[in-house]
Amino acid sequence: MKFSVTFISSIILATAAVAAPLTSQRKARHEARRITRSNGRESHPPYKPGTNEILHLNKTSKEEYSSNWAGAVLIGTGYTAVTAEFTVPTPKVPTGGSSNKQYCASAWVGIDGDTCDTAILQTGVDFCIQGSSVSYDAWYEWYPDYAYDFSGISIAAGNVIRVTVDATSQTSGTATVENVSTGKSVTHTFNGGVDGNLCEYNAEWIVEDFQSNNSLVPFANFGTVTFSNAEATDNGSTVGPSGATLIDIKQSNAILTSSSVTSSSVTVKYV
Ligand SMILES: *[C@@H]1O[C@H](CO)[C@@H](O)[C@H](O)[C@H]1NC(C)=O
Ligand SMILES: *[C@@H]1O[C@H](CO)[C@@H](O)[C@H](O)[C@H]1NC(C)=O
Ligand SMILES: *[C@@H]1O[C@H](CO)[C@@H](O)[C@H](O)[C@H]1NC(C)=O
Ligand SMILES: *[C@@H]1O[C@H](CO)[C@@H](O)[C@H](O)[C@H]1NC(C)=O
Repeated sequence: MKFSVTFISSIILATAAVAAPLTSQRKARHEARRITRSNGRESHPPYKPGTNEILHLNKTSKEEYSSNWAGAVLIGTGYTAVTAEFTVPTPKVPTGGSSNKQYCASAWVGIDGDTCDTAILQTGVDFCIQGSSVSYDAWYEWYPDYAYDFSGISIAAGNVIRVTVDATSQTSGTATVENVSTGKSVTHTFNGGVDGNLCEYNAEWIVEDFQSNNSLVPFANFGTVTFSNAEATDNGSTVGPSGATLIDIKQSNAILTSSSVTSSSVTVKYV
């Protein structure tokens, strides 16, 4: 990731104020990790546009708007795994954007983060563009800790990637990113000691305007992300996204995405 470390101390102060309740020991660990991170890239729960208030979805068929999440969220109980495949898009500078600013978006799958906001187990791929230079990162995150980049997998536009999270308990599980064409995959295992417990209330397929430097990154025109073969495990049974609540990104009163679902896919378009 391409963000500078210059503003780290202000980030620590600001982030400590909004983080979920942590013990002081965990908080110290959290801050230590923050300092070793080069950019503090972090996914967050969905916020109501223009606020720091979490948008708690309520399982209606009404489309909801958020400043940072687009896609589909299943709401219930007993969600222990989520997976899907997507083709890595080529991000573009949005209309009216500047060639010396970096624009990014991220596609990921996850458990929790909405009606349960103590944790999110998630994994995905970031895509960024600055001028004519694009970059990609595969990462995993157990919110409220920061995201960590996977090493050992390189991502490029057009690659078909499978992303999977699997919770083996409320404090442990795996995050896997696989190159479907080659079968090559990387996995991170969380063995407890995480900063927040899962409730297993939400399964989601999301394109996010993530945060770095303690604010939303300028949002890239990501074209279209289609999560196909999208599945979640609910109480041991496989379910598709068709009953999910749709969510789209709205910033400064402009609607930036359009999301839809079928029984096995979630499509998010930049509009
Ligand atoms: C970080 O935020 C500061 C102001 O809070 C801003 O001046 C700076 O450009 C930002 N850095 C990046 C890399 O976005
Ligand atoms: C919840 O449901 C009602 C309709 O019953 C709707 O008006 C409201 O906006 C929904 N969403 C949220 C986030 O409360
Ligand atoms: C992933 O698969 C593509 C083919 O779709 C290939 O060109 C690329 O090199 C692969 N990446 C890795 C890291 O194996
Ligand atoms: C999963 O189990 C919970 C608790 O037993 C139940 O309320 C819920 O309806 C179940 N979900 C499905 C899809 O069976």
